[in-house]
Amino acid sequence: MTAMIEQTHYRTVMGHLPTGVVAVSAILPDTAQPWGMIVGTFQSLSLGPALVSFSVAHTSTSWPRLRTAGQLCASVLGVGQKDVCKALSGKNPDKFAYVDWRLSPGGSPRVTGAHAWIDCQVVHEFDGGDHVIVVAEVTAMDGGDGEPLVFHKGQLGGYRQPIAV
Ligand SMILES: Cc1cc2nc3c(=O)[nH]c(=O)nc-3n(C[C@H](O)[C@H](O)[C@H](O)COP(=O)(O)O)c2cc1C
Repeated sequence: MTAMIEQTHYRTVMGHLPTGVVAVSAILPDTAQPWGMIVGTFQSLSLGPALVSFSVAHTSTSWPRLRTAGQLCASVLGVGQKDVCKALSGKNPDKFAYVDWRLSPGGSPRVTGAHAWIDCQVVHEFDGGDHVIVVAEVTAMDGGDGEPLVFHKGQLGGYRQPIAV
C-alpha cells in the first residue's frame, strides 16, 4: 500500500533538510546559447568512478534542452549569488542575460564567482516518481573559498560557522 502524504506537508518536512544551491548549465547544441537551471538536489554519489547526481522534475522545460548537450557544468553558488539563483530558476527566455559566466574546461558555462564547479557528463537517467534522477560522471572540478548559498525551510541563506567539537 502507498502511504498518502500530502504534498505541502512533504515540502514542509523536507524543507528542514538544508541543501546547496547549484546551477546546472550547458551550451545548447542547436543554438550555442548558454542555458541552465537551479537544483537543490545535487549531491556526491560515487568516488570511484567519480559520479554526481541530481533530480529534475518531469515538468521542467529546461532539462529536455540541457540533456541534449550531455556535457554540463554544475556551479555551487556562493552566499552572494541569490540573484543568479533567481535568474536561472525563472522563466526568462535568456536566463544568462544578467549572469556572468566563462567556459569551463569541458566547454559548459561556469558561473563566475561560484563557490565550486563540477564539469560532468550525463551517464544515466532513472525514473524517480515525478522526477528523473540524473547520474553524471565528473570530468573536471575545483572549489574556492567563501560561504555557500543554502536553501532551508523555503528560504535562501548562508552557512554559519562550524561548531567546535
Ligand atoms: C533553491 C531551488 C532549488 C531547486 N531545486 C530543483 C531541483 O532539485 N529539481 C528541479 O527539477 N527543479 C528545482 N528547482 C526549480 C528549477 O530551478 C526551476 O525553477 C525550474 O526548472 C524552471 O523551470 P524550467 O525547468 O521550465 O526552466 C529549484 C529551484 C530553487 C529556487
